[in-house]
Amino acid sequence: MFNFPIIDLKRLDSSKSEKEELRRGLTDVGFFYVKNWGLTNAELEEIETLTRQVFTASDAEQNKLASYVGEMAHSFYLFDMDSKFVQQVDPNLKLDVKKIDEKFWKMFLAMKNTGLELLTWFEKIFDLKEGRLRDQFASDPVCCLHGNYYDKTPKGEWGIESHLDKGLITLLYQDQTGGLEAEYEGKWYPIPPIEGTLIINLGRMLEYFTHGVAKGAWHRVKAHKGDRISWPFFLNPSFDAKFGRLDEFKWNAEEFEALEKKRRINVSGTYEPGTEFGSGTYRDWHNKYVVNADEHRRNKGHLKIWEMEEPSKAEVDGPNEKSSLQVRPNQWRKPNTRIYM
Ligand SMILES: [Fe+2]
Repeated sequence: MFNFPIIDLKRLDSSKSEKEELRRGLTDVGFFYVKNWGLTNAELEEIETLTRQVFTASDAEQNKLASYVGEMAHSFYLFDMDSKFVQQVDPNLKLDVKKIDEKFWKMFLAMKNTGLELLTWFEKIFDLKEGRLRDQFASDPVCCLHGNYYDKTPKGEWGIESHLDKGLITLLYQDQTGGLEAEYEGKWYPIPPIEGTLIINLGRMLEYFTHGVAKGAWHRVKAHKGDRISWPFFLNPSFDAKFGRLDEFKWNAEEFEALEKKRRINVSGTYEPGTEFGSGTYRDWHNKYVVNADEHRRNKGHLKIWEMEEPSKAEVDGPNEKSSLQVRPNQWRKPNTRIYM
């Protein structure tokens, strides 16, 4: 068992020990829990019930949700896998798509606010000028919420293989099944569910921009006890954000470079794609590695993904282009075309 930091957002302002735990999570562990982030336990229970309904509904009902014009754009895809799902479909289940859209929009906003609040706290912890991270990288962040359904993972396979997230921050709510693990100093540790909390892990971009001072941690999922649902929220940079490293962290450049050399190979023995950022914008990176993910993706997994995005954030080519989300097919697709994880 490893002692992952647990931070009470309501106490952060007044408590030195909470700030120290946040610093440990940010710079040493790369994973931490947060409490009091916005949704009540009753609301989270409802989120779980609705998500189970979405995943057990017929294709026709899922298509209804995918074509519903509400607060968010909904779509579905399968992550790459070979074996069949055992999950049962209920042909009589009717989805309340309006309610689903509204409830998940609330969750989306609460997670987005928490992510931005954390970026502000990171600025304080790192003693940066106010707005240094938020203004440069997240003035209009590209955000995405998933409902991830993992079947009980077949022997010898992974729910999702070991990987580093690519964006700035990932905020994850998980059900009580367990199965998430993170690597710390070469060993793997479970991240057990703690009711009502979010799990935060730092993405490859935040790590890169800070010369590795903010730590990205490898993680993986195996739902070995039974099926599992999790809700990761990906806080990515604004489309126009420039991929520049911050000089305030240059003192760590050499050490980070050495670490990078060691980690260019992932557990599958393949190069981890999309982890070199150059000096373009997030839009450049997104067009290369998200829009055209198929040719770059290497990780494998055994999961179905329900993806929710703000329609306005789907613009890739420019503000006047038609959103790519509006022309997506409304069915489970395989292989996936996204690599947010
Ligand atoms: Fe991930």
